[in-house]
Amino acid sequence: MSEQKLSGEVYYPSFEHLGEPHVRERGELQREAENDYEGFWARHAEELDWFEPWEKVLDDSQAPFYKWFTGAKTNIVYNCVDRHVLTPRRNKLALIWEGEDGEFRSLSYFALKREVCKFANILKSLGVEKGDRVTLYMGRIPELVLGMLACARIGAIHSVVYGGFSVEALHERLEDSQSKVLIVADGAYQRGKIVPLKDIADEALQRAATVQSVLVVKRTGQEVNMEQGRDLWFHDLMMLPIATSQCNLEVMDAEDPLFMLYTSGTTGKPKAILHTHGGYMVGTYTTLKYVFDMQDQDRYWCAADPGWITGHSYIVYGPLLNGATSFMYEGAPTYPYPNRWWQMVERYGITILYTAPTAIRGLMRFGDAWAERHDLSTLRLLGSVGEPINPEAWKWYHRVIGRERCPIMDTWWQTETGMFMITPIPSDPLKPGSGGKPFPGLQMDIVNEEGKPVGADEEGYLIIKTPWPAMLRTIYGDPDRYVEQYWKRFEGMYMTGDSARRDADGYYWVIGRVDDVIKVSGYRLGTAEIESALVSHPAVSEAAAIGLPHDVKGNVIHAFVILKTGVEVHEHFEDELKRHVGHEMGPIAKPQAIEFVDSLPKTRSGKIMRRVLRARALGEDPGNLATLED
Ligand code: WTA
Repeated sequence: MSEQKLSGEVYYPSFEHLGEPHVRERGELQREAENDYEGFWARHAEELDWFEPWEKVLDDSQAPFYKWFTGAKTNIVYNCVDRHVLTPRRNKLALIWEGEDGEFRSLSYFALKREVCKFANILKSLGVEKGDRVTLYMGRIPELVLGMLACARIGAIHSVVYGGFSVEALHERLEDSQSKVLIVADGAYQRGKIVPLKDIADEALQRAATVQSVLVVKRTGQEVNMEQGRDLWFHDLMMLPIATSQCNLEVMDAEDPLFMLYTSGTTGKPKAILHTHGGYMVGTYTTLKYVFDMQDQDRYWCAADPGWITGHSYIVYGPLLNGATSFMYEGAPTYPYPNRWWQMVERYGITILYTAPTAIRGLMRFGDAWAERHDLSTLRLLGSVGEPINPEAWKWYHRVIGRERCPIMDTWWQTETGMFMITPIPSDPLKPGSGGKPFPGLQMDIVNEEGKPVGADEEGYLIIKTPWPAMLRTIYGDPDRYVEQYWKRFEGMYMTGDSARRDADGYYWVIGRVDDVIKVSGYRLGTAEIESALVSHPAVSEAAAIGLPHDVKGNVIHAFVILKTGVEVHEHFEDELKRHVGHEMGPIAKPQAIEFVDSLPKTRSGKIMRRVLRARALGEDPGNLATLED
């Protein structure tokens, strides 16, 4: 960054504490990427191994179905695992894991390769082949990571369903993906209690016709139902001769699918975002390298859940591609006490911590003392993701956790982008609450209704103008929806669904979603899903869900419900409905409050006017009602 004077509150980096980062100045990368965008990505791709080189870096002949590194052959698992085993890194820890109950496991790169191969051989013995879909439904345990890598190794497409989701959410995702195998844990620990994942899966499986085998990983140990001919214990199979520690890698085309991950969009059912071996690999590798300045001696901790994109890109693939040591923790941040996280930072010597604003605000509530009593001096970089971070939480994180010397990388990105898009790098001056600028080479903008750029400090739609290697390739099984949803609103530009403004220094300030997506504790939920869970209750005729601001969670769900005529509701009916949503969707989707109403405000075309509902719930003026039908 040049001598330019920045406006507002600015935090400058301290190289003394940071060490020597990969780049000392953003301009170095920026200039390179701007002068030769494709060359920039090709140079980073060359830092990874390919079985055959690419013919073209970016193929835009069928835009918006962009392709990257066409003609190249690779397998992301080769670069995550096998490659390191051929170097002194073979003995380096790839993964350190702590269970909520204090259990500990670690895997060197050598051990990681062995376990992934054994796992992959088991999948093969169940008939899993290249292109087959495999669903994983577990808590934060090492087998989830191993299972993802095992799928990718043999060319199967993994679909991880967040362990906090429930029956209907899992059922829908099993059906849509037509998964052949489900890998599930018996249960997950959550604040000392057991979430009965296998029981939930059994219910979901009743209507999932394509699943032939269920592989059950023992974690919590309670009695579970094992269906003859369908369910198999993972640990039993691991003892069999089929589970050898050698397993050939499937040679994948750069554009072959790696995984699908369901996320909520504007309308209807959740959609599966599809990512590939080649471009996704280059994107996650490069962005993590620079944004968190991955160095060999780092102990990196991304506290997200592998069930969401943050876990895919920055617990599993990005760190392993960089040959990093990654730490993973199973449970709740405040269990059994609010110092659990800081205890682990101290115990394992964590150097980089990446989490979400909601977790920071949740921990901040308990005061400074819980963190102050721990030695956090190993930390050198902090990160934030998932929703805008309010400056108050940013400053607390910086002062109490970062001890005023760790820069905070506030990374804006999405399931669809696969990699960081707007983000600082460690040497950048930071402004609390802003993610800074687009990653070098990416062209983004903020536009008005007509798709024209807005002026400094004006709010508008956040869009992306350049294709990028880790971009989604399509929506699984629905290419039209892919075009419609992302590329139609503004011709030739990718629509993010977020609103933002940019200040005179070029720093971006993301405001939030402009569509029907609600971020609850950083988790992405669609109003349509919550509404359909409500309507699936026999007493409910119509429902509308909106997000309302909340101090810790960012947003909470507030629902409006029209009951069927003649339905008598009892005093605890609101609780019953909340429980119903929890059962169908999962605890995160439970509305905080439900209001019973006689009608819902709709436009003449029948679309629910959430703006009006939000105003009503907040006791504000609903504004212009010209389009209201009734
Ligand atoms: C929001 C999560 C502000 C945004 C990686 C985006 C953020 C959505 C940030 C994607 C951030 C994510 N600042 N908002 N640093 N990071 N978001 O797909 O609204 O679960 O569109 O991916 O999260 O959520 P998703």
